[in-house]
Amino acid sequence: MPKPFDEAHAATYDQHFAALAPMRDALQLVTGLALGELPAGARILCAGAGTGAELLYLAAAFPGWRFTAVDPSGPMLRRCRAKAEAAGVADRCRFHEGTVEELPGEAGDHDGATALLVSQFLVDRAAREAFFRAIAGRLRPGAPLVVADLAAPSLSGELIALWKRAWLHAGVPPEQVARMAETLAEQVAVLPPDEVAAIVAAGGFDEPLRCFQSILIHGWLARRSASP
Ligand SMILES: C[S@@+](CC[C@H](N)C(=O)[O-])C[C@H]1O[C@@H](n2cnc3c(N)ncnc32)[C@H](O)[C@@H]1O
Repeated sequence: MPKPFDEAHAATYDQHFAALAPMRDALQLVTGLALGELPAGARILCAGAGTGAELLYLAAAFPGWRFTAVDPSGPMLRRCRAKAEAAGVADRCRFHEGTVEELPGEAGDHDGATALLVSQFLVDRAAREAFFRAIAGRLRPGAPLVVADLAAPSLSGELIALWKRAWLHAGVPPEQVARMAETLAEQVAVLPPDEVAAIVAAGGFDEPLRCFQSILIHGWLARRSASP
């Protein structure tokens, strides 16, 4: 079993998600709509950019925007950079291997941000809140953040059953789907949606607006508070 976001995991990450592409495509579309108020030349912080899914989508949709891709996983970020180069958008991107807390720059130096499927891996609640506080620190007041995370009212409910069925439908072998369910319980903080929203708000954002759901994947639009 690869460690999360190591070389082996990064090498298969895109392929793993390809089977459920319509769910991811819908999330990208809503993310673009939620950030779409921003002007040409906007600076977007992609926290946990991974292999670049949202960065590449937004860079194509908004040709004037510039991006800061932040991710502590070298293998994931290398793939993000390679894809940005292949797509001809790397000159609008800055890549930072590390966390948002460690990102060189100044307070409020971004106009918008994304954190898609990232904070769920911060199982310690204080660390999860600190992640959002670091993002808030790099946004100007009122700036939009799109967050998506796995969330569910409980770990044994019908939503989890539907999630497993989605992966079986995508052709993932049953034993692997069973392991996935264990991983959800042990390595991912799958909290009730309102609790995730409360963590985002505690990090320095006004009450997040829930604007997306596809089975377990919940999405919110949050605005950086006037005084975080
Ligand atoms: C499931 S991937 C999501 C990647 C991308 N946002 C997407 O939707 O495809 C989660 C990413 O979050 C990164 N990550 C984990 N902890 C992080 C942290 N504290 N700050 C920023 N990124 C983090 C991981 O290295 C990984 O690349």
